[in-house]
Amino acid sequence: MTNLAKRNIDRESEGSGAGFPAVRRAAVAMLCAGALAGAFALTARAQPSRTVADGVYTAGQAARGAEVYRAQCVTCHGEALEGSVGPPLAGDGFLSVWSALPVVELVDKIHNTMPLQATAPLSRQESIDLTAYILEGGGFPAGPAELADAALADIALPTVATASAAAAGGDLSVAPIANLAQLMRAIAFPASNIVFNVQIKDPADDVPPPTAARSFDFVEWGSTVYPGWEAIDLAALAIAESAPLFLVPGRRCENGRPVPVDRADWREYTEAVVEAGRVAYRASQSRSVDAVIEATDQLNEACASCHEVYRDVGAEGRGVGADRCRQEP
Ligand code: HEC
Ligand code: HEC
Repeated sequence: MTNLAKRNIDRESEGSGAGFPAVRRAAVAMLCAGALAGAFALTARAQPSRTVADGVYTAGQAARGAEVYRAQCVTCHGEALEGSVGPPLAGDGFLSVWSALPVVELVDKIHNTMPLQATAPLSRQESIDLTAYILEGGGFPAGPAELADAALADIALPTVATASAAAAGGDLSVAPIANLAQLMRAIAFPASNIVFNVQIKDPADDVPPPTAARSFDFVEWGSTVYPGWEAIDLAALAIAESAPLFLVPGRRCENGRPVPVDRADWREYTEAVVEAGRVAYRASQSRSVDAVIEATDQLNEACASCHEVYRDVGAEGRGVGADRCRQEP
């Protein structure tokens, strides 16, 4: 059992989770995280050998894609891929999202999630043709052979540097309001449990009952507004985007010690959570339960590695961890 799982179960036996079914489920999910971890071997991915600059689609294929685009995408992504309701599908901003990723991920994104709220899903061929059209719109050259499903993992999108948050004026300093434990309980804990729950429940089966048939539940409430796979997407994003809050100077731990934000290993542990959140998001976008389960392994590891050093030290139990957050592990 992982420390995280054990901790959550301990909390429950203390009674703080009693009476909240969602919390109990979460503990089960955390427990599964440890139990299932060994079952999924990490598969090393081969590096793509070609890039989209190598003429990987044909002009005819892009023309087929353009037809589907005009019928199903243009209202949200614009006449010239410039974006309107949805984001642009060409240009640096777009390419930085997909920097160095294999084309298969872009095709999967289109196939699995677009058009947004579609009643009928796109076919695989349509998704690939649309990708050819998007590549053409991005100025990547056509070539002699069509883009085909089997080759997608072997072709990389270009590497584009992302503007760092600081360069974009994102280094706004905010005074912390929560202590570290509250921050963890508020965001990292529920968001991780949503991702871990994929181990025991396929998000595709998550069809909320009609509003009238539900009694109100604060925990369930948000998840019925953005249910199913989107809830997993959002939880993974919450993990990735909120982890840098662990680094905000001036925050204190529950016991009043300053969070050791200046320590190099603290920063590395935090970066590992950002990365695990990013991996979980990509896995969720693939709409594959197995991929998300594999990602939970990395997430569990990222949380637990820091906890071993900075949290689960000294006396156990809520409010008793006088040794927590110490500067000199
Ligand atoms: C109802 C509006 C809507 C329609 C129709 C729609 N999209 Fe989108 N699309 C969005 C929104 C909103 C996002 C951003 C959220 C997300 O990434 O899921 C998005 C994101 C994307 C992305 C990822 C962009 C990025 O920056 O990462 C791609 C690729 C995409 N759409 C392709 C398509 C294609 C191809 C079609 C037509 C088959 C389509 N979309 C139809 C609204 C739409
Ligand atoms: C950089 C180190 C670090 C990382 C990474 C980290 N934690 Fe924590 N976590 C802590 C510390 C230290 C505490 C104790 C905070 C305190 O005492 O105020 C804590 C406390 C918690 C608590 C509260 C436990 C209690 O006593 O009630 C939860 C829940 C939690 N973390 C979940 C997570 C999850 C889930 C992740 C991964 C997504 C994570 N944490 C990642 C350091 C970390």
